[in-house]
Amino acid sequence: MASFEAPSRAPLRPVKEARPWQTDSWQAHPAAQMPHYDDAVELQSAMDKLRKLPPLVTSWEILALKELLADAQQGKRFLLQGGDCAETFADCNNEVIANRLKVLLQMSLVLVHGLRMPVLRVGRFAGQYAKPRSTDTETIDGVTLPVYRGDLVNGPEFTPAARRADPGRMLEGHARSAMTMNFVRALIDGGFADLHHPEYWNLAWVERSPLSAEYRHMVDGISGAMHFMETLAGPIANFQRADFYTSHEALLLPYEQAMTRQVPRQWGWFDLSAHFPWIGMRTSALDGAHVEFCRGIRNPIAIKIGPAMHVDQLQQLIDILDPDDEPGRLTLVHRMGVGGIGQHLPRLIEAVKATGRRVLWVCDPMHGNTEKLGNGVKTRRFANIRSELEQAFDIHAAAGSRLGGVHLELTGEDVTECLGGARNLSEADLGRAYKSTVDPRLNYEQSLELAMLIVRKSDRVE
Ligand code: PEP
Ligand code: CO
Repeated sequence: MASFEAPSRAPLRPVKEARPWQTDSWQAHPAAQMPHYDDAVELQSAMDKLRKLPPLVTSWEILALKELLADAQQGKRFLLQGGDCAETFADCNNEVIANRLKVLLQMSLVLVHGLRMPVLRVGRFAGQYAKPRSTDTETIDGVTLPVYRGDLVNGPEFTPAARRADPGRMLEGHARSAMTMNFVRALIDGGFADLHHPEYWNLAWVERSPLSAEYRHMVDGISGAMHFMETLAGPIANFQRADFYTSHEALLLPYEQAMTRQVPRQWGWFDLSAHFPWIGMRTSALDGAHVEFCRGIRNPIAIKIGPAMHVDQLQQLIDILDPDDEPGRLTLVHRMGVGGIGQHLPRLIEAVKATGRRVLWVCDPMHGNTEKLGNGVKTRRFANIRSELEQAFDIHAAAGSRLGGVHLELTGEDVTECLGGARNLSEADLGRAYKSTVDPRLNYEQSLELAMLIVRKSDRVE
């Protein structure tokens, strides 16, 4: 998001005449996963304030991203999307933001080098503050309270005051997202991503990793390649920066509605809370509020697809969300689990093929592989994450389709939340640095390891 230019192709108006749509037309549809706000006046007032605040992203950034996603649909770019399961207001700080950016940049470097193609970087950050939950309430010792739905909605503490859905949190979430964006943009503009300084990129624990030799070899290779190109072509300014786009689940619709605006010299509406919102697995009902909201915005949209997705539901979703088969508009993120991908992905690939529509296929190997240990701790096994991802490459290749990206939950911190990986974290290790309040994330070195494995795997698939 550092250096955007206006898109080169003039954006076309839709060919098909769509059903009428307004920023609030979702309100007439069943809205899953929405908190209950007990004071309509307070909610309206927060939305009115939000509507007047500056946007977090711009329409030209969104349109530029759509073009890059269109390239990815054609196999000319690979999408790396990653970040926390849920951001928290408390983690809106220097270290967490900088380390997350570092690990994503380093992974993208591994992918660029290994895949020999540009990588499109999208963070799950600057707005990933609202979470779908499996129940509406939580009961502890006979006391029942609303469930925690993410910092954008309520607080995690088990008290009536904290668990009340507070519309003022949307303003706080907007402010924290703006601070995150501001810092990310400044880091990128300030040369944080300068590939001439690979030493910036070496966080301490890489040194202790069994993969450090391979990693160092790769960084040397990249430096050598850069040196070679600069010898031929002179200094290449683009090495000094890395574009970054933002994404979050478009879950809390009052927030998304208030951030959806019209802009000068463009037709239609843009959700300016993030470049690339996605529809979660629990909110993709055809007639649901989330699909209704997303069909009317011009941002590129992703949909999470789980094992329960029916072929005709998927085909209809494509029709509703992308009636004009617009390049870059639609990304399908499958998250089937290591045991389910072989069974479910082939039929969905065939279903999309049958529509003749273009989509970008992305694998989320995290959300189908969450398990609870005997002691109640949620974890994911690195071996399962790896296997689902490897199967995804193979299944797409066998079907004449292409896996165009990955969607990961990760952090730049040295946490111990997922089992296994090069250092083979055990159940006993999980107690050491388990920080996530929601889903378990890959830590820094597990993330880099996965990037290296993607490169190895895609070499074999080609
Ligand atoms: C998520 O990405 O954090 C999430 C809740 O995913 P899904 O909708 O795929 O379960
Ligand atoms: Co998650």
